[in-house]
Amino acid sequence: MFDLLPYNTFGLDVKAYAGIIVRSVSDLKTVSAPETLILGLGSDVLFIDDYEGLAVINAIKGLEIVKTGRTYQVTAGGGVVLDEFIQALLSYGITGLENLSGIPGTVGAAPVQNIGAYGREIGSFITGVEVYDLDTHRAFTLSHDECAFAYRTSVFKEQKQRRYFITHVHFAFEEGFKPCLTYPGLDNDPSLTSAGAVRHRVLALRERKLPDPRFVGNAGSFFKNPVVDADKVATLKETWPDLPVYPTADGKFKLAAGYLIDKAGCRGITHGHAGTWEHQALVIVNRGQARPHEIVSLARYIAARVEELFKVTLIPEVRIFGRHGEVPWERV
Ligand code: FAD
Ligand code: EPU
Repeated sequence: MFDLLPYNTFGLDVKAYAGIIVRSVSDLKTVSAPETLILGLGSDVLFIDDYEGLAVINAIKGLEIVKTGRTYQVTAGGGVVLDEFIQALLSYGITGLENLSGIPGTVGAAPVQNIGAYGREIGSFITGVEVYDLDTHRAFTLSHDECAFAYRTSVFKEQKQRRYFITHVHFAFEEGFKPCLTYPGLDNDPSLTSAGAVRHRVLALRERKLPDPRFVGNAGSFFKNPVVDADKVATLKETWPDLPVYPTADGKFKLAAGYLIDKAGCRGITHGHAGTWEHQALVIVNRGQARPHEIVSLARYIAARVEELFKVTLIPEVRIFGRHGEVPWERV
């Protein structure tokens, strides 16, 4: 059996039938199990059971930087720790990812849900993603457009592409600091004159709001922020005029799930050994020794309360895995 405790930030005591740490693409040639689960650091997963297949852990390292004209072309191994990657870029004077500082996980997992924070998404800097197909044992590169990045999603969440092990990610960064300071907490602050200062501020904001998985088990936002149309926003604003609403590129509106959960009376609650974070209701936490079913039943309770009060459906952001692989939320 292979211990998954170090590979799930919820801190659940779960195991896989077997596991392999992948340090180079050639290690993948030996992977031929019918059931495989690709993992980075497990900071966006919830195991509801032991996994009966092979856990394939990405530990491919490496960083390559080439400057062409005013553009830095950067390639990073999928197993590089994302925040170490961001720090390394900043140390070379390469800016762009500073708003994503402090997000746990690996570079290889970052394209999967197109990670985002404080007004930036990683997909806008990605030019290509190198993958190894665990079914066909072929390696190839997907272009930026083929990745189909959108809010918390990409092609890698589709059924066939879940067999694509991301080995390397290619990025392009333009020379010069172009700040993105519109998100609340950054507030177009004129003192944020360098990428380092933005990183520092983002880390401080995150520390205030989010629990550190080294001490409190969690997987960040448990649900995605729901996207609704203008009519729904107008109806909701009649009762909740301070409801935070963010317009999306396709003319819809993203609501803050944390606000909805908070207003539904679910911030800081405890059910069994699971709870919601006192400073950010969207984060479900393991209060110590939680069993998977306690986290699931709390998530269901929260979704039901929000549905009842706002008639808005919450969908998990966290990926849920059972004995034989990913389990859709409706079947958990
Ligand atoms: P894992 O959790 O190991 O895997 C996540 C998913 O990606 C799984 O489905 C897995 O199968 C797949 N996967 C992983 N690696 C690969 C690979 N190499 N190839 C193919 N598929 C792969 N996310 C945000 O977007 N913004 C935030 O601000 C944010 N804040 C967070 C704060 C906290 C405290 C925590 C715990 C999580 C937060 N997250 C956030 C979620 C998480 O950090 C990201 O989803 C991150 O990209 C997960 O990386 P990982 O290596 O841990 O992936
Ligand atoms: N809010 C409340 N009560 C709460 C939580 C939030 O009223 O308990 C309100 C806040 O006051 C604010 C709004 O909701 O007005 C939004 O809150 P916040 O700025 O904390 O961001 P979020 O929408 O809850 C998203 C991402 C985070 C990311 C932050 C910063 C999703 C699902 N979550 O959270 O990503 O770090 O924005 O950009 O999109 C993650 O994906 O795991 C994650 C942590």
